[in-house]
Amino acid sequence: MSRQKILILDFGSQVTQLIARRVREAHVYCEVHPCDVSDEWVRRYAADGALKGVILSGGHASAYESADRAPQTVFELGLPVLGICYGMQTMAQQLGGKVESGRQREFGYAEVRARGHTALLKDLQDFRTAEGYGMLKVWMSHGDKVTELPPGFKLMASTDSCPIAGMADEARRFYGVQFHPEVTHTAQGRAMLERFVLDICGARPDWVMRDHVAEAVAAIREQVGDEEVILGLSGGVDSSVAAALIHRSIGDQLTCVFVDHGLMRLNEGDMVMGMFADRLHARVVRVDASQLFLDALAGVTDPEQKRKIIGRLFVDVFKEQARKLQAADASKKGAQWLAQGTIYPDVIESGGAHAHKGGKAVTIKSHHNVGGLPEQLGLKLLEPLRELFKDEVRELGIALGLPPEMVYRHPFPGPGLGVRILGEVKKEYADLLRRADAIFIDELRAAKQYDEVSQAFAVFLPVKSVGVMGDGRTYEYVVALRAVRTTDFMTASWAELPHELLARVSNRIVNEVRGISRVVYDITGKPPGTIEWE
Ligand code: XMP
Repeated sequence: MSRQKILILDFGSQVTQLIARRVREAHVYCEVHPCDVSDEWVRRYAADGALKGVILSGGHASAYESADRAPQTVFELGLPVLGICYGMQTMAQQLGGKVESGRQREFGYAEVRARGHTALLKDLQDFRTAEGYGMLKVWMSHGDKVTELPPGFKLMASTDSCPIAGMADEARRFYGVQFHPEVTHTAQGRAMLERFVLDICGARPDWVMRDHVAEAVAAIREQVGDEEVILGLSGGVDSSVAAALIHRSIGDQLTCVFVDHGLMRLNEGDMVMGMFADRLHARVVRVDASQLFLDALAGVTDPEQKRKIIGRLFVDVFKEQARKLQAADASKKGAQWLAQGTIYPDVIESGGAHAHKGGKAVTIKSHHNVGGLPEQLGLKLLEPLRELFKDEVRELGIALGLPPEMVYRHPFPGPGLGVRILGEVKKEYADLLRRADAIFIDELRAAKQYDEVSQAFAVFLPVKSVGVMGDGRTYEYVVALRAVRTTDFMTASWAELPHELLARVSNRIVNEVRGISRVVYDITGKPPGTIEWE
């Protein structure tokens, strides 16, 4: 029998992914699909009995104005349904209740009176009022509201401005909440979602990474058979974990191509080779293309142009290598597959999770490392991490025996130091920056601050400033240190690192990296700044 699962229908909320993450944190497998799947699709999806419940997400529209509805079949499967925000409104409308445009928009923190007599909210409360009512601290975001309960429903939660903030039909196991249990600002949110999937839906908590390795290995073997796979290794977490997993599955049928564009971090290439070639005994081709990249970047100062040049060259070099590999292997058929470390958020973000009618989630960025390549090379696409969130990819990496330093490494942009050297990129600058950056990271680790920040790095400023060292005057370059905390990289705050640590880093850089005589710390949030400087 297939794995038990929860279906999340996405009405376009920016936080739909968080619902999926919370469900998976409860060790229940779930998938996000757009709200406009057909009734027939839902019936087929539920046909094997593995589906245990449905969650309707929030949306950016209002149920009062929007035509988006859940397939009616969802309410006829005999399975529990949880509607969140828009999901609750459409549930109310589709089952015979009423939704009206609210005069007052409620965004942010709210205190909800929880009528704890339902299976969903029983005994959950954050505090009690003087009158003895149980209260929940929640995150609300809505303009419209349910003004009339559908037949069979009772009131489950309310606020002054939103008298129906929660509703339940316990006979059919239908629940709706106007607030967002998936965000951490809703203190009991995780407990509510756990309760819904484990107790109300009765889903088995069997989504465990250890077991997933065996399943994933079997699936890759089945998919690939005796054919050959190539994979572009970047040194980043996703491609590394994908490589380790595929290597575990098919050994030498995998060839990794590591394109060194000369804009990597200090010793990065050696580390990647050490891990994959020496320790895992994977077939890795290392291509030193640094001169090619430096030549192409000479004289170019515009950030966007730099990105484009690096991206295009990367694809060219990779393509050439792939063709070489295909040609060299004349005895065999050559590679048939291109593997990529695409993860679930990429799939959802680019609206590509769905073969039907286009994804609901707004396309934020489409960032496949080697976009368009499979078609150009005539290769089939192998994406073994497509179902996983970032934290699950990391867990998988650990389960595959990759070292934590690699798996928990900060993200590094595709164009590498190319966007951390302001203006024109030169080898001299890259060499200085690499060493300064390594000192910063080294000291962060020593001070146990590395895992406390989301991303930290040094930026090279091609301006000279006057200094004094010993008896002499110096006139050298400047580096800026950047460290941020963020959960989603869409917004970020600069990290308030201990001053002693910053002093030590500054001291070491100026003393050990000849050519840099001044260190500054970036105290700009995002917004208004971005995390990278270019
Ligand atoms: P910004 O600078 O936009 O960065 O605040 C947000 C996050 O994205 C990373 N980043 C990139 N990653 N290719 C990538 O793979 C890129 O071109 C790129 N630009 C920025 C950045 O490091 C941060 O984590």
